[in-house]
Amino acid sequence: MDIKKLIRPELAAMRSYTPIEPVEILGQRAEGRIVKLDGNENPYGCSPKVCQALADYPYYHIYPDPEQRKLRQTLEKYTGFDQKNIVCGSGSDELIDLVLRLFLQPGDEVINCSPSFGMYPFSTAACGGKLVDVPRDKDFAIDIAGVKKALSEKAKVIFIASPNNPTGNLVTEQEVTELVNTGSIVVVDEAYFEFSGVTMANLVLDYSNLIVLRTFSKWAGLAGLRIGYGIFPVEIASHLMKIKQPYNVSAAAQAAVLASLADMDYLRSNVAKIVAERERLFSELKELKWLTPYPSRANFILCSVHCRADSLHYHSEGAEQAKKLAQGKLSGVSPAREIWQRLQKRGIFIRYFDSAQLRDYLRISVGKPEDTEALIGALREIESGGI
Ligand SMILES: Cc1ncc(COP(=O)(O)O)c(C=O)c1O
Repeated sequence: MDIKKLIRPELAAMRSYTPIEPVEILGQRAEGRIVKLDGNENPYGCSPKVCQALADYPYYHIYPDPEQRKLRQTLEKYTGFDQKNIVCGSGSDELIDLVLRLFLQPGDEVINCSPSFGMYPFSTAACGGKLVDVPRDKDFAIDIAGVKKALSEKAKVIFIASPNNPTGNLVTEQEVTELVNTGSIVVVDEAYFEFSGVTMANLVLDYSNLIVLRTFSKWAGLAGLRIGYGIFPVEIASHLMKIKQPYNVSAAAQAAVLASLADMDYLRSNVAKIVAERERLFSELKELKWLTPYPSRANFILCSVHCRADSLHYHSEGAEQAKKLAQGKLSGVSPAREIWQRLQKRGIFIRYFDSAQLRDYLRISVGKPEDTEALIGALREIESGGI
């Protein structure tokens, strides 16, 4: 029996998402200590109060509240928005998917301003939509005129991450209002809000088509528990509450959020440490002549790699190949990829994106000071000829 015939054709043809690997798998690829700077995770972990709350929680055998009452009440205090405006998801990833499921009919269009977060194209494809890409400019600012031009009758949703992953820059309020005034649903994804301190959430009450998404994965160190939320116009929130899986947020995730929000000083001090380390990492990276780090308001830094034959010795490829590589004449070989692989051999994991647009870039998550030391040490070693 040909099962493929029964599968929705757009899903049968869909490319799978390239996720990062878990620590156990990375451990098998490297000997010794692992420096994990590939997932924009929080190097300080979650609050110790979360571990205690998870150990003490007595009702794992009971389904969690489908109305997310306690969670939304607590988020009301944290965000300053009424719980009617708040919906929680199993990570903000789930909310991206839910929003698209709510608005897309087969063939409807979604605007993506690349390079940006990979889940927008992924969920668009999974929901039967068509992605319309409007690339950012050379400084990664959104091409607002380009987005407006690209909006057809079928365009329903525009995704803007702010700070943007992987570029680290913010959208401005003027840009958001311009986009909202087009009448499409505008999703401002603020997964890294606590690192930037800049939000568009205050505009949600003024526009019935603006959505702001947030997560506990990054600032609160709960990536493994999967919990995000959105601030929505009431009408959108009520439809999302209706179409979501009833028990989409686990009891464990709920307990973890309540404990996190009861330990704000601890979490805020970790955010401050990460922001300070981001600035230190930025200046260290700037010292390397063959890398250009881009300023970031998040917990990662994007770098463009422009290796020259005289600054990076390609022992493996030989001098001739290195020269071609430096001149960009060697198709299929990317210096950024080479650096990424050499770091992996040293147990240092950063993010390389296998796409034409990002083939000369690397994204480095901000870790602890000792992670910065290990990374910079390894990059210097590679610079001076280490393979
Ligand atoms: C821009 C952006 N949005 C959403 C997410 C997903 O967050 P969550 O862990 O809450 O699903 C990420 C994670 O990397 C992200 O970079």
